[in-house]
Amino acid sequence: MLMSPVSLRADFPGLAGGWHYLDTAATAQKPQAVIDATVHAMGRDYATVHRGVYARSAEMTLAFEAARRKVARFIGGREDEIVFTRGATEAINLVAHSWGGTSLKAGDRILLSTLEHHSNIVPWQLLRDRVGVEIDVCPLTADGRIDLDAAERMLTQAHKLVAFAHVSNVLGSTLDAKRAADLAHSVGAMLLLDGCQAVPRLPVNVTALDCDFYVFSAHKLYGPTGLGALWARAEILEAMPPWHGGGAMIDRVTFARTTYAPPPARFEAGTPAIVEVIGLAAAIDYVEAIGIPAIMAHEAALVRQLGVALAALNNVTVFGPEDSAGIVSFALDGVHPHDLATILDEEGVAIRAGHHCAQPLMDHLGVPATARASFGLYNDESDIAALLRGIERTKRIFG
Ligand SMILES: Cc1ncc(COP(=O)(O)O)c(C=O)c1O
Repeated sequence: MLMSPVSLRADFPGLAGGWHYLDTAATAQKPQAVIDATVHAMGRDYATVHRGVYARSAEMTLAFEAARRKVARFIGGREDEIVFTRGATEAINLVAHSWGGTSLKAGDRILLSTLEHHSNIVPWQLLRDRVGVEIDVCPLTADGRIDLDAAERMLTQAHKLVAFAHVSNVLGSTLDAKRAADLAHSVGAMLLLDGCQAVPRLPVNVTALDCDFYVFSAHKLYGPTGLGALWARAEILEAMPPWHGGGAMIDRVTFARTTYAPPPARFEAGTPAIVEVIGLAAAIDYVEAIGIPAIMAHEAALVRQLGVALAALNNVTVFGPEDSAGIVSFALDGVHPHDLATILDEEGVAIRAGHHCAQPLMDHLGVPATARASFGLYNDESDIAALLRGIERTKRIFG
């Protein structure tokens, strides 16, 4: 079981003052342990990595590479398969540019889904413009999951990549990732999973999922912004060319010819996000001390509780499945989500209102925007109660 969220909340200075933060799907608040780790990394421990011959730099390099091992272990991969990026967005762009730009050709097909975040749509459209690949879109089931029966019917030998969200950032629906991998592999396609919303909420093991690429962002896992990770199977990374050139990614440079370092260094040009990587390691320590299964059970209980309460209001539409992973999107009849979010803000409740970087999904739902409450390990019943009070007040204001 999760420790009392009341005591966990005390670990998060950003939540001081009784703020009801329900926007963790956008970005998670940071525990003091992560803040302390980044302060030390930027202060008393600060030095560059991989280059310095002095002791401080050697120590920072050890800590940096230990963090890479920690990330690898956390998601079930190998350390030489973890590439640090600026975020999930950059990780997908890296795959599209490097792998897609060399392994795909005009006429090859990519299967995405209706619920993808723009980060898992636009990089593939840029590739389409460059290379001439075709994009297909897998529909959703009535309760907002990626319809894998439809995917099975759609996939052909021309498909070289399936790229799906592991958990939807709008609907909270969880993909049957193993089945998606089996379907993709049955036609010889690769599977990329966008794990932004899954990594903070579900046990993730890339080896068991049998995917080929996995991406996530540190800031949604209670870590720093400006950092993400790409995991890809070693033999895939090995065959991929660099996409950014500069220091740290080379083997030997002459004006006539440059040879490149092996992965992951090949994909990490320039001085890396040293402080952020140390912060991510602290975030993983923090989350693991609580346990992802406990966080998952805690968020599931909150989702159930909120679902029952919203259903009782009878003028609220909830989008997505009942068993959503920590994320509840809804609409209040006759009230624009932005108006609802503004009134909730006056009540000290922070939710997200908008298209959530998923405009094709909004088109599918037939709404311009939704209100979205998303939970983190620090939320409890008092946040739900505050949200419900705010919704009742909004209803009164709008008559
Ligand atoms: C499912 C999903 N994919 C991708 C992203 C993009 O992440 P980032 O902006 O950290 O690169 C997000 C962030 O909202 C997300 O929720």
